[in-house]
Amino acid sequence: MKELKTQQIQPAKDIIWLICLLFIAVLLAVFVRSHIIKTAGGFERDLYFPFSNTNQLVIANPATPNLFRENGRYLYTTVCAPCHQTDGSGIAGQYPPLVGSEWVQANGSGRLIRVLLNGMQGEVEVAGAKYNNTMLPWKDLLSDSQIAAILTFIRSEWGNKSGDVSAENVKTIRDKESTRTEPWTAEELLQIQEFE
Ligand code: HEC
Repeated sequence: MKELKTQQIQPAKDIIWLICLLFIAVLLAVFVRSHIIKTAGGFERDLYFPFSNTNQLVIANPATPNLFRENGRYLYTTVCAPCHQTDGSGIAGQYPPLVGSEWVQANGSGRLIRVLLNGMQGEVEVAGAKYNNTMLPWKDLLSDSQIAAILTFIRSEWGNKSGDVSAENVKTIRDKESTRTEPWTAEELLQIQEFE
């Protein structure tokens, strides 16, 4: 009778062991998975910045020599194109164009950088047409070098032919206007010299 009892208990013990083993296996799998994700199989994630998937690479086409500008193209496509459109033509009456825009192509990039950092509101004339809308600020969302890359791109794309903007240019204006919270109006901007 006693023997029978232990024989009956045996399978239950096995199941407990099995569950323990399974539990350990799952824990190990979770640990190994998170370790692999963290170390990316020995590759540094940031090495490939700003690209993290094939689509981004296709859009940026990094076979072209100026990677900084191509980073700007990628950022423009994802961040600005929803309003200003992929071809920079804007939407009549709502979003002004960047193609042929005197704001984008100004010799000095001071006003343009301010527009990107703090946004723009109120009436503005762009390429002969009037707009009266609001663009929100980007200063908390984009770094100096990201803004510089975007501006370098839009100043030399779609037939625009203006010079590059550097991260230092952006930093200078960011520091100068650090206390400003409001978006700029065209009127205010026109009172600032292009190179200031
Ligand atoms: C949600 C829509 C929206 C997005 C996104 C947006 N803008 Fe604008 N942008 C506007 C509007 C609206 C104005 C005009 C504001 C006004 O009427 O005063 C403007 C004005 C401008 C101007 C000055 C006028 C001109 O056409 O030259 C520039 C330059 C500009 N945006 C660049 C950018 C860039 C670069 C990005 C991406 C970082 C961007 N914008 C993202 C809506 C947007």
